[in-house]
Amino acid sequence: MLLHVDLGERAYPIHIANDNLANASLFAALAGRKLCIVTNTTVAALYLEKLQAVLPQPADCVVVLPDGEQYKNMQGMEQIFDAALQARLNRSSVMIALGGGVVGDMTGFAAACYQRGIDFVQLPTTLLAQVDSSVGGKTGINHVLGKNMIGAFHQPIAVIIDTATLKTLPPRELSAGLAEVIKYGLIADADFFAWLEGNMDALRGLDGEALQHAVYRSCSIKAAIVARDEKEGGIRAILNLGHTFGHAIETWSGYGQWLHGEAVAVGMLMAVDLSVRMGWLPVDVLERSKALIARAGLPLQAPAGMTVAQFLEAMALDKKNIYGSIRLVLLEGLGSAVISDDYDVAQMHQVIAAWLPCE
Ligand code: NAD
Ligand code: GLY
Repeated sequence: MLLHVDLGERAYPIHIANDNLANASLFAALAGRKLCIVTNTTVAALYLEKLQAVLPQPADCVVVLPDGEQYKNMQGMEQIFDAALQARLNRSSVMIALGGGVVGDMTGFAAACYQRGIDFVQLPTTLLAQVDSSVGGKTGINHVLGKNMIGAFHQPIAVIIDTATLKTLPPRELSAGLAEVIKYGLIADADFFAWLEGNMDALRGLDGEALQHAVYRSCSIKAAIVARDEKEGGIRAILNLGHTFGHAIETWSGYGQWLHGEAVAVGMLMAVDLSVRMGWLPVDVLERSKALIARAGLPLQAPAGMTVAQFLEAMALDKKNIYGSIRLVLLEGLGSAVISDDYDVAQMHQVIAAWLPCE
């Protein structure tokens, strides 16, 4: 399967198949260029040899980062820059990100900075990275004062997705990726949402055809949105359905306790619930969302002990906000999202309270 992100001179293909890590033709265009693979300890043990075997020439450097969101920082970047300089990478060299969203975001940012910008390829190995972070060119690292606060828009020259890599992914990580897949149905495609209702068990059972379809449909929705609004001046923000509530959960619980997708799942329920209470959405969409999120193995409640005030405090820091009001992605129908601060604030508070566990 092949998609394109139509961004003029920065356009690139997204290749999706069950055996792309064995498809040498996808890497042939890299012949003659210096290559630097960036991965982490976990993914290197699983897929580094396979990737090295399919490249047109040996990589000039291989950077194996420690595994974890806590290493998505300046030290990790320095590790990449040190290796790149030691290997004398030049302006026509290419970095290859082999891993999940952490490796992809860091490699992309390193490629954006190294000698003021070199090419990079995304080879995402988590479901979240295959359906979201590898596409669209958001790259960056965390700062102690905020997640993803240091970064750049830098598009890859290709995204090569091998859905067979998902076979080794821990089930909890698969579920976290499914939250983003469900998001695409909610914001852009009611038929896809219904397809997910019919195929959730196949997806969790790692059925190859089902996974490829889910990745393909998710990437095509994201690619179309990114092509319209590369740098999130407007419509791209709908990709953040549930993320404003979800970030509050991640911030409160400490990064790593709740996976991003788990927090987004609860956040999406809050956004759908508020849309229902505003009269914009029929109540059955909330029931269907709840059922689908549960079947994806995702949580249905915010963490015990969190309060409405703590949500509001964290949500006030969201990048979408302007002039002090909290802007949210809400639904006007199943498959139709809007960015709005035109909701009833008291109802928003009630919604947060409704998804907190009873004491
Ligand atoms: P991750 O990169 O931490 O990967 C999750 C875990 O799975 C890690 O332990 C990793 O080593 C392991 N892993 C990866 N592939 C594997 C495989 N095939 N088999 C076994 N284990 C494997 O997490 P993630 O969920 O992929 O990405 C989260 C990151 O992505 C966050 O830093 C987030 O900010 C970022 N993100 C970026 C964007 C974007 O647009 N750039 C969008 C969403 C999220
Ligand atoms: N993950 C949201 C975006 O890429 O805009």
